[in-house]
Amino acid sequence: MTSAPRTPRPEDKFSFGLWTVGWTGADPFGAATRPALDPWEYAARLAELGAWGITFHDNDVFPFDADDATKRDRLGRLKAATDSAGLVIEMVTTNTFSHPVFKDGGLTSNDRSVRRFGLRKILDAVDVAIEMEASTFVMWGGREGAEYDGSKDLHSVFERYKEGLDTVAAYIKSTGADLRIALEPKPNEPRGDIFLPTVGHALALIAELEHGDIVGLNPEVGHEQMANLNYTHQLAQALWSGKLFHIDLNGQRGPKYDQDLVFGHGDLLSAFFTVDLLENGFAGNPDAPRYTGPRHFDYKPSRTEHLPGVWASAGANMSTYLLLAQKALAFRADPRVTEAMEYAGLLTLATPTLDAGETLEAFRTSDSDFDADRAGERDFGFVRLNQLAVEHLTS
Ligand code: GCO
Ligand code: MN
Ligand code: MN
Repeated sequence: MTSAPRTPRPEDKFSFGLWTVGWTGADPFGAATRPALDPWEYAARLAELGAWGITFHDNDVFPFDADDATKRDRLGRLKAATDSAGLVIEMVTTNTFSHPVFKDGGLTSNDRSVRRFGLRKILDAVDVAIEMEASTFVMWGGREGAEYDGSKDLHSVFERYKEGLDTVAAYIKSTGADLRIALEPKPNEPRGDIFLPTVGHALALIAELEHGDIVGLNPEVGHEQMANLNYTHQLAQALWSGKLFHIDLNGQRGPKYDQDLVFGHGDLLSAFFTVDLLENGFAGNPDAPRYTGPRHFDYKPSRTEHLPGVWASAGANMSTYLLLAQKALAFRADPRVTEAMEYAGLLTLATPTLDAGETLEAFRTSDSDFDADRAGERDFGFVRLNQLAVEHLTS
């Protein structure tokens, strides 16, 4: 039997969006089922539960139409509360999706005046991020998309996206702040199709940017799984590219609407291998890049829960993560796993396919004794290795 997970500690770097515990349950089909608290009340409660940090959208803290005095007052109160609770504000983001003005997007709206307004709002939120000493500025383009293929000049969409991102990145550089942008892909919802649907699409756009060196990714479990993709593989490619700047952990049960369940309440085996990668790195590649950033949760306490359920579900994200971390550690330390990894050839994948300095000419005439039929008979033992993971997960 696994012992109960230990209490979260600051070094676990658990963080939560204020909009997660702050979701009151209002959805397209029904009204709020819970009261709204003030941002500093959520922050204080998260600190008590053992969180290390919080994150927020500009409009989680002050209203869309707030005047300067209100903004200052509310940001000041939040900062005072996080400072006194010992919480870090590790990420700030912009709401460019709620107000009707953004119904066709912020950076890619067909209406130029909206694009100019959206970009100004994003730059203002960068100022907030710098003031709060955040290290990441997430850009989730939820409304950057379309329902109808004929409704946009799709070439210009990417030009405008690039223009917007480069403008924000250049501004950040000009301030000298230690702040990086993390793009958050999502395939759909709220738009029928969103323009950066997956990690791969975002990486390709970043490669075209002038200031792409400070632009990376914030992949979310549910978003990749909504596109029927493997989250751990997406994290791995972002890491390999040096672009895994931030993560959104939650749970999703297959390709459907964005469920935002507690981490591990969707595909648990996938969550196990996600934690294994985050905690233990690439098997067979100890010197490869590791993710050292926040373990950030972007989930929604189900609408059926009232305030006790909100706090219980916030705690559940951290407990699940800690349990999986414990099990992933035991998995890697198990001699049967090492043996199964060796049998699987997993540890030799790190060996380059060509010898150092081997010429193509020499290579193409090498291995004359290679027997494809014999190699085709090899047993990899992947199923046994996976079963060992299942045994650790369920023990
Ligand atoms: C969603 C997204 C958002 C973003 C948030 C931060 O599906 O609604 O996951 O929650 O993460 O806007 O940018
Ligand atoms: Mn989401
Ligand atoms: Mn998210």
